[in-house]
Amino acid sequence: MSDLPPIGPASVVVVSGGSRGLGLAIVTDVLDRGAKVAAFARTITPELQQLADAHPDRVLVASVDVNDHKALTAFIKDAEAALGPIDALVNNAAVGQDAMHIHMSPQQIGDIIATNLTSPLVLTRAVLRRIMARGGRGRVVMVTSVCAQRGYSGLVAYSATKGGLDSAMRTLAREMHGRVLVNSVAPGFFASEMSSVLGDQQLETIARRTPSGRMVEPDNIVPVVRTLLFEDTNLNGQVITIDGGSSI
Ligand SMILES: NC(=O)c1ccc[n+]([C@@H]2O[C@H](COP(=O)([O-])OP(=O)(O)OC[C@H]3O[C@@H](n4cnc5c(N)ncnc54)[C@H](OP(=O)(O)O)[C@@H]3O)[C@@H](O)[C@H]2O)c1
Repeated sequence: MSDLPPIGPASVVVVSGGSRGLGLAIVTDVLDRGAKVAAFARTITPELQQLADAHPDRVLVASVDVNDHKALTAFIKDAEAALGPIDALVNNAAVGQDAMHIHMSPQQIGDIIATNLTSPLVLTRAVLRRIMARGGRGRVVMVTSVCAQRGYSGLVAYSATKGGLDSAMRTLAREMHGRVLVNSVAPGFFASEMSSVLGDQQLETIARRTPSGRMVEPDNIVPVVRTLLFEDTNLNGQVITIDGGSSI
C-alpha cells in the first residue's frame, strides 16, 4: 500500500489575476506567510507593484494576458528562474458577465470560456508539468463561484466556466494521485471591480438574504485559500463554498 507523506506548505505560489480584488488579497497573504509569489494580470496595479518593490527577492510580477499561452509559459519559466521551483497555483483570474444569454454574441461567450476555463486549464497544465518533471509535490486552488451551484440571471457563460473548473478540479485531484492536492474555493458575491455591475439595491438584497447576516468579503476567503496552500488538511477534490450560507 502506498503511503505518501503529507505535502509541505507551499513555497512558490503562482497567482493569476493578482493585481486587485481577491487576487491581490491572496498575494498579500501568501507574502505574509513568508512564501514567494509570481503574480500576473494584464495591467499591473500600483498596489501590486508596491508589493514587488517591497519584496524584490520574493515577488515576480508581469503583465500577461492569461489567453496568451506563449507569454504564460514564458512567465512560468521566468518565475522558476527568479524564485525557484513552483509548487502551488491559485487560478484566480477571471472575467465577469452582465448580460442575458440571449443577448450574448458567440464571440462574447467564447471569450468568457477562454479566459475563465480554457486558459486556467492551460496554466494548470504548465505548472503541473514542471512539478511532475522534477518529481515534486504541490497544491492547486481554483477560484470558482456559487454560480456553479445555483442559478443567477445574467451569468450563463460565466457559470458554465466555474462549473467546468469545479468538475475539472475533481478529476485532476484523482489524476494527480496525491502528488498534488487540487481543490476549489467557491465564493458568494463580494464587492470588487467584477461585481461593481451590481447596484446598491442588489448588494443590499444579497446581504439581507445571507443567513450569516452579511455579504462575503475577500478577508473571509483568504484564510480558506491559505489553509489549502499551507496546511496539512488532506482536503482534496473538494469545493469549499464561502457564501455566508446563501446557497444552503
Ligand atoms: N466578485 C465576486 O462577487 C465574485 C464571486 C464569486 C467568485 N468570484 C471569483 O473570484 C475571482 C476574483 O474576482 P474579483 O472579484 O477579485 O475580480 P476582479 O477585481 O475583477 O479581478 C480579476 C483579476 O483577474 C485579472 N484578469 C482578468 N482577465 C485577465 C486576463 N485575460 N489575463 C490575465 N489576468 C486577467 C484582472 O486583471 P486585468 O483586468 O488587469 O487583467 C484582475 O487582476 C474570480 O475568479 C471571480 O470569478 C468573484
